[in-house]
Amino acid sequence: MQIIRSVQEMQALAYELRSKGQIIGLVPTMGALHEGHLSLIRLAAERADAVVVTIFVNPTQFAPNEDFNKYPRELEADVAKCAGAGADYVFAPTHEEIYPKGYSTYITEEHVAKPLEGVSRPTHFRGVTTVVAKLFNICRPDIAVFGQKDAQQVAVIQKMVADLNFPVDIVVGPTLREADGLAMSSRNRYLTPTQRQEALAISQALFKARDMVAAGERRKDRLVAEATHILSQQRRIRVIYVALVDRRTMEPVREVEPGNAVLAIAVWMEETRLIDNIVL
Ligand code: PAF
Repeated sequence: MQIIRSVQEMQALAYELRSKGQIIGLVPTMGALHEGHLSLIRLAAERADAVVVTIFVNPTQFAPNEDFNKYPRELEADVAKCAGAGADYVFAPTHEEIYPKGYSTYITEEHVAKPLEGVSRPTHFRGVTTVVAKLFNICRPDIAVFGQKDAQQVAVIQKMVADLNFPVDIVVGPTLREADGLAMSSRNRYLTPTQRQEALAISQALFKARDMVAAGERRKDRLVAEATHILSQQRRIRVIYVALVDRRTMEPVREVEPGNAVLAIAVWMEETRLIDNIVL
């Protein structure tokens, strides 16, 4: 497996792979890789001839008060994990490669990015769309794999790809969970054992909603009320939102239309922000 640090080298490689007719699969990450990421790499390896994993902690998607500085950086361990999961290349650029001095161009999706995460993190998706568009231009993928764990990120990127005619198929990998239900996330490592225990309420709330829908419940009010009730039992959790939304537009829906609705949750577990969701 090869590690690439410069944009120029990555673009030359992408050109060479494409001219040989190889299908390029891209898995964009910020590193601190866990099994959830590795499942996305395996998914890319099933569908592409050459798998490129990008590792870049993207400063533009963090607000000044967020965890950019403390976000875990462990390139060596990540590279070994990528190799084990079937990646062919790791593109790990420096900050200056992606945002050279004087950088001033940004991409903003103006609809899907607005609710939910967009309310409390108004500049977050501008950073995500900008860096993902750049990674598409640098790595020239045929497919790009993202995790359903970040449901709104998936919807925003799908909209950007459609609106800007990127010739990239977006593949969505399922959320991987720990045995007790907690969705895998690089931020779980910030949790103390007590916080981690209380955080189980998030997946319990989602699973309860799934069970209610299986039993015939469709109404947003009932599903959101029950999920909120489960979260409110935990002293350390502060709910940011519990919302039933359309999985593509992120607009609120009043009833579940099976397969098209997402119940999305964001909470503060004391100083750690956690998100999770379930497609209903
Ligand atoms: O999901 C992530 O890790 C990031 O938002 C992404 C897509 C790699 C862009 O920085």
